[in-house]
Amino acid sequence: MKLWPQILAAALVTLVLFGAFYLASSHPGGEGAGVLSKAAWQRMALPGELSQAHAFLSHNCAACHTSVTGVQPANCIVCHANDESILQRQPTSFHSSIGSCTECHLEHQGSDHRQTEMDHAVLTRIGLRQLNEKAADSEQKLLRGQLASWSAIGKPPHARISSDEALLNCATCHSNDDRHFKLFGQDCAQCHATDRWTIPEFQHPSPSSTDCAQCHQAPPSHYMMHFKMISARVAGQPHADVTQCFLCHQTTSWNDIRNVGWYKHH
Ligand code: HEC
Ligand code: HEC
Ligand code: HEC
Ligand code: HEC
Ligand code: HEC
Ligand code: HEC
Ligand code: HEC
Repeated sequence: MKLWPQILAAALVTLVLFGAFYLASSHPGGEGAGVLSKAAWQRMALPGELSQAHAFLSHNCAACHTSVTGVQPANCIVCHANDESILQRQPTSFHSSIGSCTECHLEHQGSDHRQTEMDHAVLTRIGLRQLNEKAADSEQKLLRGQLASWSAIGKPPHARISSDEALLNCATCHSNDDRHFKLFGQDCAQCHATDRWTIPEFQHPSPSSTDCAQCHQAPPSHYMMHFKMISARVAGQPHADVTQCFLCHQTTSWNDIRNVGWYKHH
């Protein structure tokens, strides 16, 4: 991942040199031979088509590229600072302070390529870098040392994630995604990886288990009149307590009521 800009740059140099040579030799004495227009250079140097969303910038390389320093986050932020939809969603609200863009948002991959590749390890790297930049005084250096040792030692074993990812506090960005209503705690990485929420080797406990309430939270309606008036009657279990999910439910679906069948809502 880290290497690709260098690899790309090397390939580009070859391409540019070869391209220029090709043009010069195939049009000997032709108009403009050897002296390429700015536009021609741009075309040859282009590592790949821009994404569809940015295609309108194909004649404005400078919107993103600053000479010498290259692509600067500030150039991106000029156009994207006020995107409410990302700032308001919990997992992407980090955009308000991230100050670094191209690790996750690729360019020049062609117009049908997805422009976003979420990389959790990048979050740690950017965080550490920001911390390093601020670590001028000794107090900050202490903090830096601490962080470095955390990443070396790592938090308790999280089999599914990298040591970089282990420094992240998953719940700050994902507590709204918690299917378990906090019953499993806030350390999502104890069980989850970062590339998908499903866990291939997970096998649900047997349908004859009576421990349902350990892992499942009933909906609010089960703690209201609705429970005795509707749920318990529908299930034919007038005396059941809310915690006895297994008396009324099965593991196939919450709407598959035991001994009753599929319950159609409203
Ligand atoms: C929407 C923003 C955007 C526009 C517009 C854009 N680029 Fe880029 N370009 C990038 C990004 C992002 C990279 C990857 C650089 C990185 O990872 O820091 C890149 C990389 C490159 C590279 C590889 C070398 C480098 O600087 O890393 C070249 C060469 C390049 N662009 C040329 C062009 C040319 C020529 C144009 C105009 C036709 C153009 N780009 C327009 C965003 C843009
Ligand atoms: C000149 C303004 C401008 C600049 C500079 C710019 N963008 Fe954009 N960008 C846009 C516009 C306009 C869209 C399309 C908006 C839309 O569809 O809602 C867009 C779309 C996007 C999208 C969404 C793509 C999609 O699939 O819908 C991402 C991500 C993005 N830009 C990131 C970046 C990054 C990273 C940079 C810097 C390398 C950058 N932009 C530079 C104007 C800009
Ligand atoms: C750690 C990875 C990461 C970094 C760094 C990052 N982004 Fe994003 N960005 C994302 C993800 C993930 C999304 C959500 C994409 C989705 O839902 O399809 C997103 C969404 C966006 C969108 C909205 C795209 C859309 O589909 O509407 C824009 C615009 C954007 N980012 C711009 C930026 C800019 C500008 C920066 C730098 C200041 C930046 N991003 C830094 C991961 C990142
Ligand atoms: C700074 C915010 C942030 C932190 C911290 C964070 N994530 Fe994410 N995570 C995201 C974003 C952004 C996405 C992209 C999907 C989206 O926009 O909802 C994502 C996606 C995911 C996905 C879904 C992947 C997919 O493609 O379906 C999983 C699983 C995940 N994260 C797990 C974790 C775990 C485990 C941790 C802790 C080690 C963690 N995340 C820490 C922001 C974060
Ligand atoms: C003790 C282990 C454990 C912890 C901790 C945990 N989960 Fe889960 N989670 C699971 C298991 C097991 C599944 C079922 C996976 C499956 O069906 O493949 C699951 C499923 C999910 C799913 C649904 C996956 C799907 O698409 O079917 C989401 C979303 C989810 N968890 C989010 C979270 C979040 C967010 C956190 C942290 C706040 C968290 N989990 C903490 C074990 C855990
Ligand atoms: C050891 C923990 C555990 C026990 C015990 C348990 N479950 Fe689950 N169950 C899960 C996890 C994790 C998931 C996947 C995440 C989610 O959807 O909540 C799940 C998913 C389900 C689903 C699918 C939800 C959906 O919408 O796809 C149903 C229905 C279900 N369980 C019912 C039950 C019933 C009924 C019992 C008792 C007989 C029970 N579970 C016992 C952990 C458990
Ligand atoms: C006395 C029987 C009974 C018990 C005990 C019971 N439920 Fe239910 N539950 C129902 C019935 C019937 C429905 C469908 C009709 C309704 O919403 O009342 C239902 C609906 C649900 C739904 C779907 C709600 C929705 O909005 O889609 C969930 C989730 C659920 N129950 C979880 C649980 C959990 C978790 C427990 C145990 C902690 C539990 N239930 C205990 C009878 C019961």
